[in-house]
Amino acid sequence: MNMETSQYKGIPAMSPPVVHEYLHELGSNWTGAGMAMELGCWLGATSVPLLEGLVSVWYDKPFYAFDKWRANEEQAIKAESQGHPLSNGQDIMPVYMNNVSAVYDDVRPVKGNIPDTLQQIKMEPIEICIFDAPKQDPIFIDSMKRLEPYFIPGVTVLGLLDYYSYSKNKGHRAEILRAPVNFMEKYGSCFTKIAEWPTECSCAFFKYEKPISWK
Ligand SMILES: C[S@@+](CC[C@H](N)C(=O)[O-])C[C@H]1O[C@@H](n2cnc3c(N)ncnc32)[C@H](O)[C@@H]1O
Repeated sequence: MNMETSQYKGIPAMSPPVVHEYLHELGSNWTGAGMAMELGCWLGATSVPLLEGLVSVWYDKPFYAFDKWRANEEQAIKAESQGHPLSNGQDIMPVYMNNVSAVYDDVRPVKGNIPDTLQQIKMEPIEICIFDAPKQDPIFIDSMKRLEPYFIPGVTVLGLLDYYSYSKNKGHRAEILRAPVNFMEKYGSCFTKIAEWPTECSCAFFKYEKPISWK
């Protein structure tokens, strides 16, 4: 998320309240079929509402959280504008863990660059997959190729938190940010779009329906 910022319970966010509410609801609809994870967590403003929903229905699986957790200048400015000073280069994993561990005690942070870090975990069926890390290839497509074999047809929800951001940028940057849209243009027959808020933010959520035949 780039344009719409807010906070969730005092945690600086790069996502709007409507998405936090949806994540909470998504978590509370967990069926038990698979684990939940987030890629691109920053300080936890999206993980926390999702986890709150999950714990309300007795979620009992690991919650994998992927991020570099190294604040850059842009993040420091965003956090500062929301009343939370960060310094450029700061290791922010402790801030994330402090925020999420108040809600759930089996959050497993995986620090470093995706898609490489996706090799570090024991994969199991995935019921909820929130992606808010770079919307650029090859990061995006390589991450999907690693995750999709663990998606559950008819169950898994894939949240793409910057699905429409390309449309708010121009030229070369818009092209770079089109990776999730390119993916859905190619493999959209395997998904159903279940939520979006086109006038409020760039997020979209999809239900995985059937296995992808990778081209
Ligand atoms: C848009 S922010 C996430 C915001 C958060 N979901 C929220 O709404 O508050 C994107 C995050 O992706 C992380 N990130 C960027 N490139 C990454 C990579 N290659 N691997 C892992 N994390 C990455 C950044 O560190 C940043 O915290």
